[in-house]
Amino acid sequence: MSGNGSGFGSARWVMERCDDLTRHSSRPDALERVYLSPEHSAANLAVRAWMLDAGLDTETDAAGNLWGRRAADGTPQRPGTRGEPALVLGSHLDTVPDAGRYDGMLGVVLAIAVAHRLRDVQLPFALEVVGFSDEEGTRFGKALLGSCAASGQWDAAWWDQADADGVTLREAFLQFGLAPDRVGDAARDPADLVGYLEAHIEQGPVLESARLPLGYVTSIAGARRFVLTITGEARHAGGTPFSRRRDALVAAAHLVTRIEELARATDCLATVGHLRVEPGAVNVIPGLAELTLDLRGRTDGGRDALWEQISAAGHDIAQERGVKLEVVETHRAPSTACAERLQAAVAAGIAEATGAAETLGLWSPAGHDGMAMAAVTDVGMLFLRCRDGISHHPDEHVDAEDVGVALDAFTEAVLALAREREETR
Ligand code: GLV
Ligand code: MN
Ligand code: MN
Repeated sequence: MSGNGSGFGSARWVMERCDDLTRHSSRPDALERVYLSPEHSAANLAVRAWMLDAGLDTETDAAGNLWGRRAADGTPQRPGTRGEPALVLGSHLDTVPDAGRYDGMLGVVLAIAVAHRLRDVQLPFALEVVGFSDEEGTRFGKALLGSCAASGQWDAAWWDQADADGVTLREAFLQFGLAPDRVGDAARDPADLVGYLEAHIEQGPVLESARLPLGYVTSIAGARRFVLTITGEARHAGGTPFSRRRDALVAAAHLVTRIEELARATDCLATVGHLRVEPGAVNVIPGLAELTLDLRGRTDGGRDALWEQISAAGHDIAQERGVKLEVVETHRAPSTACAERLQAAVAAGIAEATGAAETLGLWSPAGHDGMAMAAVTDVGMLFLRCRDGISHHPDEHVDAEDVGVALDAFTEAVLALAREREETR
């Protein structure tokens, strides 16, 4: 098998479908596709057509995730059918603001191409492809909403989380045509699943530095996200001496630099990615600063210890500067180990596709839907080299040659799991 050529399921086809999906964007100048938006609906429709062409029957679930499925014998089968347990391949279709075209989408399209290659192959399990609806958390702050629904981890506390326009998650569900009280229907039963395998760009420099097109993932970092609101007092920029100021933005600035200092002293990552200031006028001392904080750690313990330090620093700064600090946690996902058997299958697929005697295993500081899916099934991942390690940026790039090798490796990984399952029957 080879990823060469330009027909359905080839590497070129995968690259072109990733290009196609950029049309479904809320911005004319950039790619942005968030959960439960008109673009989400349009992307689902486009991807659905490719799933059908690959021999899968399709269904959008109660949380807006798009599923395709074939039975073990290759016959298209309605997702949700209680047939043989399924091996699920996929990734997500939502994006960050001003995104690249491969983060998520590549994994969905590549999974469809693999399903197409295997359409005439009898497997010892059903094969499903999923396009998860919200991995990034761009719209509501809480990431992994799609895969949390699919893994039965929906939390009713999320319904009232609002987007930047004040639209709550509940309202967005209704606007999209989904029934909030049916979200539980999206939950998958572990007995119906063989595993979840995702192909994704690495989003870091390790594979490129090692001059390797592919690697298998050993674990995914644990993450937490917060909104930190600092309230001071908005007053006249000319009439208020420094001794009388309670400047929320200066307090926030101190906190941002302290967060970086604290994180640099650990092996965790901390990022303040958004800052909003009120009233936001040139001649008014900022009365309010709201910032987001994204924390990641290889272990949950390391990540939580860093949060304790940041929280203490925040309260100290607030006290020194006479401002109030309020903290809301918007997202928490545990660090996730990829299952040994799926690591082995992906490594075997890479070895088969590249002819390499040794394959590279690496952990993922970036978050993935597998973090949620691990609650209901084994998860594994294949990483593809991306140029300059850049992601969450329009310059995100993968080489078509690497996609060709990934297609071979991912197909071989599925076949390795099929052999393993047949042997243990
Ligand atoms: C998803 O891309 C994340 O790691 O935030
Ligand atoms: Mn991403
Ligand atoms: Mn992603």
